[in-house]
Amino acid sequence: MADLAGSDVVPAAVVNEAEQLSAELTEHSYRYYVLDEPTVPDAEYDRLLRRLMALEEQYPQLKTSDSPTQRVGAPPLDAFTSVAHEVPMLSLDNAFSDEDMQDFERRIVDRLNYKDEIQYVAEPKLDGVAVSLLYRHGVLERGATRGDGRNGEDITENVRTIDSIPLRLRGGGGEHFPELLEVRGEVYLPKAGFEKLNEQARNDGGKVFVNPRNAAAGSLRQLDSRITATRPLEMAAYSVGQVSGWFGKPEHNVDQTAVNELATHYEMLMQLKAWGFLVNNKVALVEGMDACLAYYQMLSKERDGLNYDIDGIVYKVNDLALQNRLGFVARAPRWAIARKFPAQEMMTRLLDVEFQVGRTGAVTPVARLEPVFVGGVTVSNATLHNQDEIERLGLKIGDTVIVRRAGDVIPQVAGVMLDKRPEDAKPVVFPASCPVCDSPLEKGESETILRCSGGLVCAAQRKEAIKHFVSRKAMDVDGIGDKLIEQLVDLELISSVDDLYGLTLDQLINMERMAEKSAQNVLSALETSKQTTLPRFLYALGIREVGEATARSLAQHFGSLESLATADQQQLQEVDDVGPVVAHFIEEFFQQSNNREVIARLQAAGVQWPDLEKPDEAQQPLAGQTWVLTGTLDSMSRTEGKEKLQQLGAKVAGSVSAKTHSVVAGPGAGSKLKKAETLGVEILDEPAFIALLDRYGLAP
Ligand code: IVH
Repeated sequence: MADLAGSDVVPAAVVNEAEQLSAELTEHSYRYYVLDEPTVPDAEYDRLLRRLMALEEQYPQLKTSDSPTQRVGAPPLDAFTSVAHEVPMLSLDNAFSDEDMQDFERRIVDRLNYKDEIQYVAEPKLDGVAVSLLYRHGVLERGATRGDGRNGEDITENVRTIDSIPLRLRGGGGEHFPELLEVRGEVYLPKAGFEKLNEQARNDGGKVFVNPRNAAAGSLRQLDSRITATRPLEMAAYSVGQVSGWFGKPEHNVDQTAVNELATHYEMLMQLKAWGFLVNNKVALVEGMDACLAYYQMLSKERDGLNYDIDGIVYKVNDLALQNRLGFVARAPRWAIARKFPAQEMMTRLLDVEFQVGRTGAVTPVARLEPVFVGGVTVSNATLHNQDEIERLGLKIGDTVIVRRAGDVIPQVAGVMLDKRPEDAKPVVFPASCPVCDSPLEKGESETILRCSGGLVCAAQRKEAIKHFVSRKAMDVDGIGDKLIEQLVDLELISSVDDLYGLTLDQLINMERMAEKSAQNVLSALETSKQTTLPRFLYALGIREVGEATARSLAQHFGSLESLATADQQQLQEVDDVGPVVAHFIEEFFQQSNNREVIARLQAAGVQWPDLEKPDEAQQPLAGQTWVLTGTLDSMSRTEGKEKLQQLGAKVAGSVSAKTHSVVAGPGAGSKLKKAETLGVEILDEPAFIALLDRYGLAP
């Protein structure tokens, strides 16, 4: 009836092509999202999708609800409608210890009077949102949230946008799956998607989510499913609800077909996988309680490395007949339990916000917290990064906050519980001047950080600058710890890095926790540190944005401190990874007379380094030579050694011949070394090789 130009009747060839495209796209998307084994490049997928979209544009009759083009979202709804769950969506009992787990098994054994080892399915407990998906004749008809377990909300348009949810069950013409099938699972946002979403929100002032679960919930409860479509949600299936036609629990066994032989939960999961659902790949069959506990240990170790959040493990009795005999208590099954991991998020109170001044003057707000055990450690401080972060969180002193520590990541204040705010909560007030030296604070253009303008007048900056100067990758002065530096600065025995070399034994002995022996050690470590290298010295100066790698590049490029100190912006920017900002900091550093004086005093105290021979690009020192590396090196890999030789102009070959200029031989060198000896080729051991590299600033 639609009177669109030529679209009334769809030519058979077009129907064919559309069906073909649809099947191919569905298959590719299954391989990509469910099996994680894509077989075509993304561009090919996009090409097929565009072709199908073009056909559907021309013949709108082709646009069925299960078409792969229908994952982009639909026009927004006014509200979600309520749906009733025929089979209630239950929750799980929790276990927090091995004992809780053993109690769980004992209850099962007693109830069943069971003698054999019980088989369980262990499943990661994904931290997301439970959903129910209803398939009629294999086609997705409705998606719903759990709600209170009996009634949820209709989120069909939203679930359609999730790529790992099949719009139509795989596996043929309809006779191989139930007439009505309700699949249940967890919708979650992988960590990477969460980070990206929050980064975007931070950039354009949108809503920042506390954790991936909240982000998943928020994304799924959008009235505008086109927004949901932009969120990289996934769904893993973990059980079935309502089933009719055949399948599953005896009361639903309307139709006895061969597929109805499914006897275990694990087989059911495999069946769901065959129908096109993503089933988490850590799901495992475990035999007996010891294996359950071992699985817990195993997954605990893997937890931080997974690309999605899990908050525990769900164990389910595998045998469906046993499940049936066990039944339910209240709102949870007797045949399953959730073993929880230690929390990575906890609530605690924000006692105060203090401000720390770093080496470059950056003033960082630090949250002082009521100590709380989270992510395996007791946390009493957390960085708040900067003023924007405090505003974003809307923090007040006295607030109850959510502290998150996942993996080795430093603890974060992830959110504020506004409903728990006490009446006397106080705003966080940024200091007007440096909390340590009272110098004015300044904020660079395009910077979110406040900085103390006091430079080395500021005791905090002085302490941090000296700590940096003695650190391992800088001057490497052994035995001078942070505490000692703080004392020495507080007592005004030192105020700048060069003062270190004027310290006396008497002064050091009088410091806390110092005896004559340790004081002696400090002095000799200082003495040793005077023989240094140009890259180390440059790094030790603590020029803003000049890290170890940049210091090395600068040293290699300029060869001496004099040529670096007198270089202009343009010359500085010729160095790898030096842009206008870094060039500016370097120039500014050497323009300041007090910095030049400190350097002069350091040199006067005996600090020295060999200048580097500048590898001239036109005439590289090893140009025209062929080198061979053999055996192993302690200080670098062979690949690194090879790269360094190539940087100096050498060709690096795999075998020794009369044309070989030199051979670098480490321990384990065999036939190549012999051959070099026979041919009278120059042989360098590792120390000799490093000495060579050192002449050009390439030593590791
Ligand atoms: S089974 C009767 N399996 O945990 C069985 N739940 O407290 C009910 N969850 O609401 C659920 N991963 O959102 C099950 N592999 C898994 C799960 C899982 C995450 C969530 C689910 C449920 C809650 C139970």
